[in-house]
Amino acid sequence: MSVLGATGSVGQSTLDLLKRDPPRFEVAALTAHRDVEALAREAIAVGAEFAAIADPGGYGALKSLLAGTDIRAGAGGDAIIEAAQLAADCVVAAIAGAAGLEPTLAAVEQGRRVALANKECLVSAGSVFMEAVRAAGTELLPVDSEHSAVFQALAGAEPGSVERITLTASGGPFRGWDHARLATVTPDAALRHPNWSMGRKITIDSATLMNKGLELIEAYHLFPTRPDQLDVVVHPQSIVHALVAFRDGSVLAQLACPDMRTPIALGLSWPARMETPTKRLDLVALGALTFEAPDSDKFRCLKLARQALETGGMTPAILNAANEVAVEAFLQQRIGFLQIAELVEETMERAAKGAVSTTWQDLADVLEADAAGRRICAEILASNLLGRVSMVVSERLA
Ligand SMILES: NC(=O)c1ccc[n+]([C@@H]2O[C@H](COP(=O)([O-])OP(=O)(O)OC[C@H]3O[C@@H](n4cnc5c(N)ncnc54)[C@H](OP(=O)(O)O)[C@@H]3O)[C@@H](O)[C@H]2O)c1
Repeated sequence: MSVLGATGSVGQSTLDLLKRDPPRFEVAALTAHRDVEALAREAIAVGAEFAAIADPGGYGALKSLLAGTDIRAGAGGDAIIEAAQLAADCVVAAIAGAAGLEPTLAAVEQGRRVALANKECLVSAGSVFMEAVRAAGTELLPVDSEHSAVFQALAGAEPGSVERITLTASGGPFRGWDHARLATVTPDAALRHPNWSMGRKITIDSATLMNKGLELIEAYHLFPTRPDQLDVVVHPQSIVHALVAFRDGSVLAQLACPDMRTPIALGLSWPARMETPTKRLDLVALGALTFEAPDSDKFRCLKLARQALETGGMTPAILNAANEVAVEAFLQQRIGFLQIAELVEETMERAAKGAVSTTWQDLADVLEADAAGRRICAEILASNLLGRVSMVVSERLA
């Protein structure tokens, strides 16, 4: 077992499961970005063979923290790739953002079974990624709770029997808020998700509903569907994770209390099921499960992601890159909450006007589009143009 992004939210939930059954799970490699202390602590706790820190400046500290153990230390991008390639029966891909793409592809190309949490891989490079999975003949197990739910509902389904796949969204902390209130949202408020405990980037994506948009694109690549067969419904209790409707009128759903250890456990043990310490579902105590349509006029990121899915080509990579830059700018309080969508939209429009090719051949094209999306978005941020964009969007919504 190897865990890429071991110090993050999904990484920590994974390690929690691994530590409960040490004889079953031997740990080959753990990785992190900058958190050297947590990486060294976890590598020692699980007896990893190799610990890799992406930040090259962390090498000295990692080496000294691991002194006196047999754990090898590595640093920089090559060390993360090496960690992904090390012999392991499963690689949990839990790096946040497009930074996870190349290491996860490296694991796939080695034929490793991959438990995939990093959705940005599929958003930016879905076709390249899925082609690599096919070419390597490897198994890809979705860890995102919605996709794990679809995967389970589809088990044994006849190809062509699916009519519709519906992903559920909690609606985030600002469900039902109007435009004026949304304009006042601070990073602290957006980081308080009502149901899930997650990393900072995905928590902001959940508040803007971009997360659900990214998940639509992820589902498109994971499961054999057309974009018009994919739907989102708001379900504030986060108990039903996804539903699959079949041509005979049957609908299969997967239910569980919101805890990432349930879908991670499935990724680690499928087709078997392992014991987890998660809270058990009590339907009587819950009383009601409710559903409503998402408001993609107020939460424009969802609309933009669907537009990117339908346009295809490099547009999802541009959307994802712009969103990563915009979320970081929001967390640094350089822009407001509503400007995340505005920045992404303006970046997509500029890219579509010819700055970026909309077709692609391989990974190099994807990486180029990702870099272009970040550059264009940073240019808009650095200029005063965003104020003008804000006014136009506010007028449109008024
Ligand atoms: N959290 C959830 O419940 C959840 C649910 C479904 C899907 N996902 C997906 O799973 C992925 C991870 O989410 P998360 O919430 O666990 O994120 P997170 O808490 O922010 O953790 C991210 C992990 O990736 C590492 N990392 C960040 N940037 C990196 C870089 N440039 N190079 C190498 N490593 C890097 C971090 O290291 P440091 O700690 O050193 O910074 C950390 O170990 C995301 O794609 C997310 O969409 C998450």
